[in-house]
Amino acid sequence: MPILSVRGLSIEYRTRRGPIHAVRDVSFDLEQGETLAIIGESGSGKTTLAVGLVRLSPRSARITGGQIVYDSGRERVAVLELDSEELRRFRWAECAMVFQAALSAFNPVITIWEHFFDTGRAHGMHDRHRVHDRARELLHLVHLDPDRILSAYAHELSGGMRQRVLIAMALLLDPRIVILDEPTTALDILTQRAIIDLLRELRRKLHFATIFISHDLSMAAELADRMLTMYAGRIVERAGVDDLFYRPRHPYSIGLLRAVPRVSGALGSVASIPGSPPDLIRLPRGCTYYPRCPFHVDDCRESDPPLLPVDTPGHEAACIRWEAVAARIGSAAKPVAEKLA
Ligand SMILES: Nc1ncnc2c1ncn2[C@@H]1O[C@H](COP(=O)(O)OP(=O)(O)O)[C@@H](O)[C@H]1O
Ligand SMILES: [Mg+2]
Repeated sequence: MPILSVRGLSIEYRTRRGPIHAVRDVSFDLEQGETLAIIGESGSGKTTLAVGLVRLSPRSARITGGQIVYDSGRERVAVLELDSEELRRFRWAECAMVFQAALSAFNPVITIWEHFFDTGRAHGMHDRHRVHDRARELLHLVHLDPDRILSAYAHELSGGMRQRVLIAMALLLDPRIVILDEPTTALDILTQRAIIDLLRELRRKLHFATIFISHDLSMAAELADRMLTMYAGRIVERAGVDDLFYRPRHPYSIGLLRAVPRVSGALGSVASIPGSPPDLIRLPRGCTYYPRCPFHVDDCRESDPPLLPVDTPGHEAACIRWEAVAARIGSAAKPVAEKLA
């Protein structure tokens, strides 16, 4: 039984030009204890989806359809039907989130301890001593020195230390799901690796399920069990991490793989995908990736293909050309990014 089930979720932003269809008919399950990565270029709807899952969308956003069901182990909870009090409890105690850009969102005039205390209090944890004990434990777990950190101000800490603090804070109420939106993006490469290692270790010790959002496929691949590729608000491929990495079946996933910088590669070996994503207000007919796709044929203009099973088990792609893609990629034993170069 999945811990989180999302079915047909659609989210729009109202603007003067018309609604922006930022998340379109998204369905997926998150299994107990697993790490699901959601990858896609900037603007593909990852943050809109993540924030929508914990019902923290901005006022201009509207959920136009779908269901989110959380299985607490005791009962099944329809997240879209929770009232504000129930949501507050759901948010930190069941499902916590580390937001994109949260690194710069610390209040500069209060200490890290006060951030912990405020977070606890906002979610019904009023006992100072209990918050203090738990904060110390968690800081230990993220390999920071509690004595030094709790009395510090955010500006006294490095980016990597602040990210560790944010992760510790997300774990304050022992959530069963942790959503991390681009948690390593603002950090240098060594710090990124250290954060990935830390997340792996925490997951092993605390057994939470993770939704890991990133535009960086190589980071996501190090942590994830399964991956979803998102393009123009839709999921276009769903696969186990090895299948997505070695046997991608959607041309957009290949584009993302090619955009992975190679450690051994010469400078400038990073390819970005030519062209740009479609206008999410006036979506074109047919496959939204069609104009950028090297595999396209005329039929791709007819309708936007649904996610359908491909040649490996538990693997789906929204592409009528997946067989042509498979013929080109095969089941490469080597990373596709190298093979295509
Ligand atoms: N508050 C907002 N108001 C209007 N449009 C928004 C807002 N936030 C995001 N968008 C638009 O929604 C689309 C998806 O954005 P986002 O979810 O941030 O993508 P990602 O996290 O994958 O970069 C983009 O076209 C973006 O411009
Ligand atoms: Mg984002």
